[in-house]
Amino acid sequence: MRKTMLGKCVLWSCGLVPMAALALGDGPVLQRHVDQAAAESGAETFDALFAQGHELFMAKFNQYDGQGRPATTGGGAPRVAGSAPLFLRTSGPDSNSCAGCHNDPFVGGAGDVVANVFVLAQTLDPVTESVSGRFSNERNTLGMQGSGAIEMLAREMSVELRNQRAAGMQQARASGQPVRVNLSTKGVSFGALVAHPGGHYDNTEVQGIDADLVLKPFHQKGVVVSLREFSVNAMNHHHGMQAVERFGMARTGSADFDQDDVADELSVGDITVVTLYQAALGVPGQVLPSDTETLVSTLVGERVFERVGCADCHVPLLALQGREFVEPNPFNPSGTAGVAELRNIRFDLTTQGQLPRLEPAADGGALVRAYTDLKRHNLCDEEIRHLCNEQLVQAGVATELFVTRKLWDVGNSAPYGHKGDLTTLTEAIDVHGGEARYSRDAYFALDQRGRDAVIDFMKSLQMLPPGTPDLIVDSTLQGVQKTALQQRHKLAVQHALAEVPERPLHDKGRR
Ligand code: HEC
Ligand code: HEC
Repeated sequence: MRKTMLGKCVLWSCGLVPMAALALGDGPVLQRHVDQAAAESGAETFDALFAQGHELFMAKFNQYDGQGRPATTGGGAPRVAGSAPLFLRTSGPDSNSCAGCHNDPFVGGAGDVVANVFVLAQTLDPVTESVSGRFSNERNTLGMQGSGAIEMLAREMSVELRNQRAAGMQQARASGQPVRVNLSTKGVSFGALVAHPGGHYDNTEVQGIDADLVLKPFHQKGVVVSLREFSVNAMNHHHGMQAVERFGMARTGSADFDQDDVADELSVGDITVVTLYQAALGVPGQVLPSDTETLVSTLVGERVFERVGCADCHVPLLALQGREFVEPNPFNPSGTAGVAELRNIRFDLTTQGQLPRLEPAADGGALVRAYTDLKRHNLCDEEIRHLCNEQLVQAGVATELFVTRKLWDVGNSAPYGHKGDLTTLTEAIDVHGGEARYSRDAYFALDQRGRDAVIDFMKSLQMLPPGTPDLIVDSTLQGVQKTALQQRHKLAVQHALAEVPERPLHDKGRR
């Protein structure tokens, strides 16, 4: 049907029809494709690249753009053309645009439960209409505000861990003895490995990260290394929009791998700008309540959050050595353009991109207040099993493991939990068993005021409207000096904290 509607020749085979000639009547939403060489040359301003990325993120792709993937699964495998529906809520294509899901409370943000994704259903051939956990892992949409900083943190951490491993091997070779290496970066421990002089590693004690020691910060499972890799996946999965760098002639032998009669659907430059756009979205901040009682509760909660152990995993601050986001990521897997194919495009996360921006540090780096250690944990034990609700193994990672959720946007990214099936923050804490059980129990042992304070603190961590100049604001979005407020309410905070038990000595913090 598609062929007769579109006519194979109209768009591409004729070759001579420039896209602009299709302005009358129906035509592609994307009026042009981004040229990677032009983007690399610096001829266009960063803001122009950001604007093009925004356009791609918002675009409700249609059949002239190449929406749909009749002959490809959402996992990228070939299948018999036309053997699956054009749209299917479970296996996909499941939506018109990236912003169709990532829009709460504004574009680039999180999503309502209605925007959940049935992860891994996209790989099925034949497709499934079932939402049963036997066929997919249902996940709630994440916000990607601040994700440029997250990708750069993961890169710096991977490099440091891999350097530790290499140094261990060097020592093992020199001494002829096995060497035990403690893996730790930015204050987060990833267990240990043993380097053997023969050249192999014993990775049985490596924790919370893959044995390749490449930290993959994206997906709640921690299985995707870069915004670029995620974007190439998502474009195919959700929209049937195929990136040349993965599905083009050079890799598949076809310019129209998904057989929808549109060739070369997304250029390398298109993927670059949609990546830069996500990396340069505003960074989540903190809204400090104007009302004194709630403000004091929020300031108290920030301290109690640490005392009961939440901060062991939800690490309040990780420091970046650099300030730049550099595209592409050196750890990109094949099928995602990387350093071999592309020249670096850089921007400064503290001075460029959407406001509010990342906070610069005095040492030339930047401060990332994301409340995560970017490490995978198991929050299940014999009694508390809510978060062990998945049945399918994704990318080889055990079903009970999830990356510590970033909390910097938790105040306006409800619902909660990887599936989005928890409606309040208290419910989210209640399902913390396993590795977090000591902390959850310490939280529920607090009196009501102490618990309310932790919740008030988390409610203050929010995505701020694009264009907000400051990261810490009052309820009217005016910038405030937090240290001055802390000083002003010091006695009230101290008084409230006197009611909260000090950290028990026996608990073993994760770090
Ligand atoms: C049908 C809803 C939906 C659509 C459409 C969608 N996403 Fe997502 N997105 C999700 C969900 C759900 C997650 C969380 C997935 C998980 O944890 O497994 C997510 C996660 C992400 C992440 C990882 C964020 C993180 O911190 O781990 C990125 C990046 C992303 N999406 C980019 C995109 C891009 C780019 C597009 C468009 C090409 C897109 N998404 C389209 C629902 C959607
Ligand atoms: C052992 C590490 C660990 C500790 C300790 C911990 N958490 Fe978590 N937290 C996680 C992980 C992992 C997730 C993701 C769970 C999931 O959805 O599968 C998470 C998720 C959450 C969420 C859900 C956020 C969302 O947007 O869905 C909240 C809220 C939260 N934690 C708050 C807390 C609080 C408050 C404490 C202290 C009482 C705490 N956590 C202690 C690891 C931890």
